[in-house]
Amino acid sequence: MAKTKTTYFCQNCGSQASKWLGKCPACGEWNTFVEEVVSKTDDKKRGIKKGEKKPRPVPIGQITSEREERIDTRNGELNRVLGGGLVSGSVVLIGGEPGIGKSTLLLQTALNMKGLRILYVTGEESQQQIKMRADRIGIANDSCFILNETFTTDIFKQIDALEPDILIIDSIQTLYTDTLESSPGSISQIRETAGELMRFAKTTHVPVFLIGHITKDGNLAGPKVLEHMVDTVLQFEGDRHYGFRILRSVKNRFGSTSELGIFEMHTGGLREVSNPSEVLLSQRDEATSGVAIAAMIEGQRPMLVETQALVTNAAYGTPQRSSTGFDLRRMSMLLAVLEKRSGFKLGTKDVFLNIAGGIRVDDPAIDLAVVAAILSSSEDIAIENNVCFAAEVGLSGEIRAVTHVENRILEADKLGFERIIISKFNLKGLDMKRYKIKVVGIGKTEDLLQELFG
Ligand code: TYD
Ligand code: MG
Repeated sequence: MAKTKTTYFCQNCGSQASKWLGKCPACGEWNTFVEEVVSKTDDKKRGIKKGEKKPRPVPIGQITSEREERIDTRNGELNRVLGGGLVSGSVVLIGGEPGIGKSTLLLQTALNMKGLRILYVTGEESQQQIKMRADRIGIANDSCFILNETFTTDIFKQIDALEPDILIIDSIQTLYTDTLESSPGSISQIRETAGELMRFAKTTHVPVFLIGHITKDGNLAGPKVLEHMVDTVLQFEGDRHYGFRILRSVKNRFGSTSELGIFEMHTGGLREVSNPSEVLLSQRDEATSGVAIAAMIEGQRPMLVETQALVTNAAYGTPQRSSTGFDLRRMSMLLAVLEKRSGFKLGTKDVFLNIAGGIRVDDPAIDLAVVAAILSSSEDIAIENNVCFAAEVGLSGEIRAVTHVENRILEADKLGFERIIISKFNLKGLDMKRYKIKVVGIGKTEDLLQELFG
């Protein structure tokens, strides 16, 4: 085999250099040079071998469509996010902050998949640490193997000997290949080792899970190309101080990206949460002021969440505004709308907003619940326990229609709510006979006051 040749390329303009440079002489950018493999073997020999048929264009009608084979991961939430199970030969990247539970999720899944030979390669923790985690999860599985290795050539040697059905890599940032001189975790190493694993998955049809770290600003550490290379990118997120974890599909060649899995971390591993509303509504018996329930949709799933507001007189000159789980700028906008359209003097008040359960909400349908919670706290009048909200609030105080309103109503109905307040523009086409719950449509924020406090 010819010796591998590497060159440094500027990631910004593509100019080449034989050694690393801090500043690119061509485009003037700093720190953009990255080592890349130029030729592994002779470049001319790459591609089609002699005697092999060259691919020719085929009419699309003549291509036989075959359903991809899917492996049941024995984890309902993970299956759902993957689009109905793990596709053979696919490469799935799971990203998330340190400590969020990536290793726990995959180890638990591996232990659950009895009967399949699974190789869990770890470069982060010792075998003993993994064993301690497995004891915590409390499932025994003799066909789950743990390998402590970071050098890809040696990993592939072990794979050849063990012939696993599923491969798990924890994490891609710890792997290295000797074709490059750069250290593990560098952009070029990540790209090269991920490339080797991709080729392995595609030729052997063994599915591969890759765990990836994310950077401070929330992106997957490593090159963007990593996300382009793999088939599926899942993001594991949640507030570390709360138990809830959301597994989101960011990219999926074999399914929809609007799917979402919900888990709860407890002392014995991750528990699947198949009915999120019941856990997200905080436990309370009597109605308290400043609390309103929103019927929102995350991915494809309706769920009811509690929004909590606290409005008090500002103790010092500038009023404080703070929000957890909801966009602060959006809250300021809603406050401005209330001030201008409904005559509420909120300019001198401190306003705090919190979404229960430590989840982040982007669904605009939560607006009306936020407004209701703020009004309720400001007036110190509780909203009844059995009312919920689903509508967007516009700049002129108009209550706007939202998507999937039927699903929201059905979920609220199922959970025993007696009244749901939505936009009057959402009423069209609703078959009220289907629900026990009373559906109320309103047009302006003023109507909300009327509806809530009479
Ligand atoms: P871990 O899977 O190591 O996170 P990651 O691989 O994403 O860095 O687990 C993170 C946290 O989960 C850790 O702080 C301990 C906690 N944990 C539990 O609460 N219960 C459990 O059963 C396990 C295994 C971990
Ligand atoms: Mg880990």
